[in-house]
Amino acid sequence: MNDEIRLMPLGEALDRARKLAGELEHRFGGELAAATTEIELRAAHAKVKSGFKAVFDAMKGGRKDLMQSAGELVNASRDRLSTTFQTRLLEISDATTLADLRARPFDLTLPARLPFGSSRGHAHPILQVRDELLEIFRDLGFQSVSGPEIELEKNNFTKLAFPPDHPATDMQDTFWLGPGLLLRTHTSNVQAREMSTRKPPMAIVSAGAVYRRDDDVTHSPMFHQLECFLVDEHVSFAELKGVLSAFAARLFGPGTAVRFRPSYFPFVEPGAEVDVGCPFCSDTDTTRAACRVCKGTGWIEIGGSGMIHPDVFRQCGLDPDQLTGFAFGMGIDRMAMIKYGIPNIRTMFENDPRFLAQF
Ligand code: DAH
Repeated sequence: MNDEIRLMPLGEALDRARKLAGELEHRFGGELAAATTEIELRAAHAKVKSGFKAVFDAMKGGRKDLMQSAGELVNASRDRLSTTFQTRLLEISDATTLADLRARPFDLTLPARLPFGSSRGHAHPILQVRDELLEIFRDLGFQSVSGPEIELEKNNFTKLAFPPDHPATDMQDTFWLGPGLLLRTHTSNVQAREMSTRKPPMAIVSAGAVYRRDDDVTHSPMFHQLECFLVDEHVSFAELKGVLSAFAARLFGPGTAVRFRPSYFPFVEPGAEVDVGCPFCSDTDTTRAACRVCKGTGWIEIGGSGMIHPDVFRQCGLDPDQLTGFAFGMGIDRMAMIKYGIPNIRTMFENDPRFLAQF
């Protein structure tokens, strides 16, 4: 029937085109408005295109004036539908987003619910112990400084009077990063650095991560140490014992015993291991024999110590005839294990929230 348009006289053809366009506009306008999903809307829009194509086809080949006037009319209807389509597309997309948000099974405004009963995050147990130790030494008058974990061989070994072939420098024990460069194996590197750059007197404490090629239940390739040292004129072993006794009293309770056992470290002379009296058991109440922390010995080893070796002073550009000093180092992870009764060092680095939430 549309074929007739191109054969009609102009007035009649215009009426016919207007009528057809009006019908299409009415029908498709309704369909576009009724669409509730983007798929439905696009399907309706596809019909608009084919419906109008049929009308244009019916005019094609007719007179030029007919094509122009009727074409404008039909185009106007099609453009209005196009606008309806665009508007509806936005409405549907907004409605979809809103429905999606409303349909979520959780309330975005609720405070976070954490697993394992802990309501807030907190510092790792090792950092808690580190801070506790640093605070004790700061209270005793030591200044806390930090040192790098990537270190020169010079500061980690040479200036601390390690002979070049010392076993600690072996590939088996040290993570070498390149010639002369390594991951520090102890926090004693801070001694070399500070003594090379400061003027005595100096009282320094430093704590941080250190690295060794070690991996079993009591050793981790990354662990933590604290280093403390004092350099001045007339510093004696008595001061070393005094500082360690004050430290042990603060950490484990008043009257905690401190003892030294002779030992060797290249950077001290004399050198000694430091033990503290086990705070978890006692002879008098017979808990000692079964104590798992000190294994019945009554003593817990906490670190190494000694009087700074004259060679270390020389290597750092200081005069060993004028100065003396003490130094000691202790394992922080070991302190944390003792304090919290943790049997395996690795649990501290696995970041299992069931473990961490206990501290
Ligand atoms: N740096 C030693 C280690 O990692 C610990 C140590 C021993 C530090 C004796 C000292 C010291 O300052 O005097 O095993």
